Amino acid sequence: MELRILHTVEEMAAVERLQGVIWGGGDLEVVPSHLLVTFAHNGGLVAGAFAGDELAGFVYGFPGLDTSADSPRLKHCSHQLGVHPNYRSAGIGFALKRLQWEFVAGQGIERITWTYDPLLAHNAQLNIAKLGAVCSTYIRDLYGEMLDGLNAGLPSDRFQVDLWVKSPRVTACMTGAAGPRPTVADLLAAGAVFVNPASPAGHPVPPGPAWRTAATPDTWLLEIPADFQALKVADRARASAWRQGTAAAFETLFSVGYIVSDFAYEPGASPWAVYVLSK
Ligand SMILES: CC(C)(COP(=O)(O)OP(=O)(O)OC[C@H]1O[C@@H](n2cnc3c(N)ncnc32)[C@H](O)[C@@H]1OP(=O)(O)O)[C@@H](O)C(=O)NCCC(=O)NCCS
Repeated sequence: MELRILHTVEEMAAVERLQGVIWGGGDLEVVPSHLLVTFAHNGGLVAGAFAGDELAGFVYGFPGLDTSADSPRLKHCSHQLGVHPNYRSAGIGFALKRLQWEFVAGQGIERITWTYDPLLAHNAQLNIAKLGAVCSTYIRDLYGEMLDGLNAGLPSDRFQVDLWVKSPRVTACMTGAAGPRPTVADLLAAGAVFVNPASPAGHPVPPGPAWRTAATPDTWLLEIPADFQALKVADRARASAWRQGTAAAFETLFSVGYIVSDFAYEPGASPWAVYVLSK
């Protein structure tokens, strides 16, 4: 794979086409090339990963202001990352985000934010576990009703994650210096508690109201489905229960000082896909 920073109208048109392949949903759902060119010419970054002449993945973002602090602070707002379905789970998403991190670090900007659906384990593994982003912001129905193939049918709830560009944590992730991370078994042995313990048959269950006890462990674990997109297609009512249950649980935990600090994905016969929340 060759990684390149994109500038030309032709390159942006290839990004438009790839958005259509990844998200579907028609022309109105596509971020147009004139906007991508504008980002690229005004301090933003549009980058692509190529297999020969074929665009296999892209990322783009633009400078923005964090308005939640006491005074506005510069950040890079990353809006879309996409990898063609034929090329996923091969490290392209990571490589594009690492290029973005290098570019933003070179501009002297200390923070990158972006949003993703917290029920997507694949995205969580990339964003939290591999890149070192953290999260303490849950936004309900951020984009309203979305009509594209990946998002239609459920409220567009999102995590807004923070990537602290110069932090030792992120630097270690980006340079391959991060040590082995604890497994779910390690975390349980150290006193972590599940928000949503699995069913007796070992299946993940959406968080209900029952977990809100007086317990205040240092670490909460929250399991999500390993393949939420498949669950959405198979059982919309259960997918909706996952959306509602996890929204309430994350909001409660964030409000009392926990942050998403890690994600454990342990594939296998009964895969774990588990958020780790630390005080
Ligand atoms: C999210 C996306 C960009 C990731 O790209 P990618 O090239 O697959 O990312 P990477 O290969 O660098 O990392 C993915 C990781 O998730 C893991 N993964 C794959 N399926 C998984 C699952 N069901 N649950 C948890 N992790 C999973 C991969 O094994 C890999 O981790 P590893 O390197 O530790 O093995 C890609 O899946 C995509 O385009 N999705 C659709 C669009 C989208 O959701 N974009 C992001 C929001 S704008």
